[in-house]
Amino acid sequence: MTLNLAVLPGDGTGPEVTREAVKVLAAIAKAEGFEYKTAEFDYGGDRWMREGEPDEVISDAQLDELRAFDAILLGAIGHPDVKPGILEKGLLLRARFFLDQYINLRPVKLYPGVDTPLKDKGPEDINFDVIRENTEDLYCGCGGFLRKGTQQEVATQEMIATRFGAERCLRYAFEYCKAKQAAGQGKGMLTLVHKTNVLTYCGDLWFRAFEEIGEADYPDIKRDYNHIDAACMWFVKNPEFYDTVVVPNMFGDIITDLGAMIQGGMGIAAGGNINPDAGGVSMYEPIGGSAPKYTGQDVINPLAAIGALAMLLQTTRDNAGQFAWKSAGDRVENAIKATTPKLESLGAGRMGYSTTQVGDLVCEAL
Ligand code: IPM
Ligand code: MG
Repeated sequence: MTLNLAVLPGDGTGPEVTREAVKVLAAIAKAEGFEYKTAEFDYGGDRWMREGEPDEVISDAQLDELRAFDAILLGAIGHPDVKPGILEKGLLLRARFFLDQYINLRPVKLYPGVDTPLKDKGPEDINFDVIRENTEDLYCGCGGFLRKGTQQEVATQEMIATRFGAERCLRYAFEYCKAKQAAGQGKGMLTLVHKTNVLTYCGDLWFRAFEEIGEADYPDIKRDYNHIDAACMWFVKNPEFYDTVVVPNMFGDIITDLGAMIQGGMGIAAGGNINPDAGGVSMYEPIGGSAPKYTGQDVINPLAAIGALAMLLQTTRDNAGQFAWKSAGDRVENAIKATTPKLESLGAGRMGYSTTQVGDLVCEAL
């Protein structure tokens, strides 16, 4: 079966890193003997300034069109001439919500030869997965202003948790943890991160769902719980403690930036916005931004985008519901691991190689 990909290079350095990911796709497709097709879409800051609607960077019809693909590869969004929030809400969050990509999977893995700011920690210590709920919580956009612009101004922004939303995310996380255990990875432990001592409604809903689902359906998975503030301490002090972490949207946003830093930074961190349901379309992206000041200089690290491609291949299902490209994804991940020791650093302009050369190194390692 042909892998049919939508590629959204986006803004700034997005196109440069996406190009390297597509180059690696060509190499792995050849090596593994599968066919693929890509269709490129130029949604992002430039197009929006030319022809966009005020709050809409991508329309419902354009999003609907993306449903026809097996998966989406996104470069980066963020444009220096576009007010913060427009592209984030009008493209990235809109796509996540519209395509119901309710899982944000963000592995935190320190690859060989990569520097971590954590003293005395190595690849065997920093190796866990964060599963962030991706459609609810403070991200729903519920709230508003009263008496805006006056001295009596009131602003509200509501945290929304639904049993349905928490449950589908928790079930995915339990399954993920169980599959890792079955593959001889991880220790069969799922950590829920929340703030149940203060968020006594949303936190309570999540905690009860966690306990009930775990007890009824996953008795062999050890359940662990951290408050978000404590998790920030332990991510730094004892990352080796974690196996699989499940967390609501806002706390997940914050803690995965911390996770990205301990695995070497934005040059390497990748994530998947996943709709795991039958017929769902998922979108994979480097976690970092569009780095406008480096645009066109061929200095930015493409490994995060190539890592996003690896995840795409590992977790995309074919029409028969099979993970047909899993071995290809594993090979790309291994090629990344073979490449990191060769780089001087993961930072832009400090790799010892250009963006394109790093892409070439990965292809050679394949
Ligand atoms: C992320 C980003 C986004 C988020 C922004 C750009 C809206 O920080 O993917 O983590 O908050 O989810
Ligand atoms: Mg974030």
